[in-house]
Amino acid sequence: MSVVSRATAIAHPNIALAKYWGKRADGHNLPAVPSLSVTLAGMATTTEVAFDASLDRDELHLGGAALPPDAEATRRVAGLLDRVRAASGRRERARVVSRNDFPTAAGLASSASAFAALALAASAAAGLPTAPALVSDLARKTSVSAARSAFGGFVELRAGRPGDEALAATPLAPEDHWPLAVVIAVTREGPKDVGSSDGMRHTAMTSPYFPAWVDAAPSLFDAVRAAVLARDLAALGAAAEASALCMHASSIAASPGLLYWTGATVEVIAAVRRLRAQGTPAFFTIDAGPHVKVFTTPEAQAAVGAALLAVPGVLRTITAVPGGGARLAPSSGGA
Ligand code: ADP
Ligand code: DP6
Ligand code: CO
Repeated sequence: MSVVSRATAIAHPNIALAKYWGKRADGHNLPAVPSLSVTLAGMATTTEVAFDASLDRDELHLGGAALPPDAEATRRVAGLLDRVRAASGRRERARVVSRNDFPTAAGLASSASAFAALALAASAAAGLPTAPALVSDLARKTSVSAARSAFGGFVELRAGRPGDEALAATPLAPEDHWPLAVVIAVTREGPKDVGSSDGMRHTAMTSPYFPAWVDAAPSLFDAVRAAVLARDLAALGAAAEASALCMHASSIAASPGLLYWTGATVEVIAAVRRLRAQGTPAFFTIDAGPHVKVFTTPEAQAAVGAALLAVPGVLRTITAVPGGGARLAPSSGGA
């Protein structure tokens, strides 16, 4: 009978207001640009990790299905577990049972909540310290955006620098700093064709606009950061929309061009601009997928939701508010 050490963690996805897109070339999964996000309550990944000496390889069960050993997700999970084994001196393989309560690999930041939850659960199960900065660094080594989901509220992650190996996100302001509301216009079901890691690698390698994006991103980040601290929705909207559009412009100019948008994506952008022209506070951001995330005030959330649902091609909306960082599930002792 083998001894099993297990822990369960829950983490939320986050949406970047100042985008990360592109890695430094030095191979440590370091972002080329600074980013700033809001962690969202209302969507979550729950992940249980059980180190078990009777296993001969790491297993990933995602959404009720056992993934093959050579699946991309299984390999990413095993890579994170290898780091945990190296740091803790443990040698057992682990069974990882995870579920996302929102679409996976669709541009809704499943890699962020997934690897933040996995980093916390695996660290706890292996008996490693679980301070959020350590969880953030461990998660970042597998998916950069996951570094930010270790923390709740408004979270920043600086760009990598030469010689960095450790790099964790830092909390900028707690979730109750600013009661923003988010309406996500879902424009397609199912996973995207090009994952974020591949999309940004292709952009960095082939887009003549990628260097311009890397040049522009820090001042867009500064503007986003100042607007968040000042709780200035109009200034935040201008900077966040510019960050998203500059990021997408760099991908659209890649060779061949990488366009994450559909017609419905553009229709939602137009609808947000119409809402704003009519005096409703709202701005959009778009990640590596066709959905549009619209930020507004709690008072205007219902009107914004109704307006987005009326846009042709919008299948449904998901509403969310700022939420907390990754946490261990109750009774998840980690031993
Ligand atoms: P997204 O926009 O959803 O973050 P990405 O392309 O960045 O899309 O990442 C999706 C990948 O993250 C999946 O293909 C899979 O490898 C991994 N992933 C997502 N959810 C989980 C999970 N719960 N457990 C393990 N890996 C996951
Ligand atoms: C457009 O963190 O998913 O959502 O680091 O390769 O795992 P990897 O990519 P990922 O990229 C997220 C890109 C983005 C913008 C953002 O979240 O900052
Ligand atoms: Co992702």
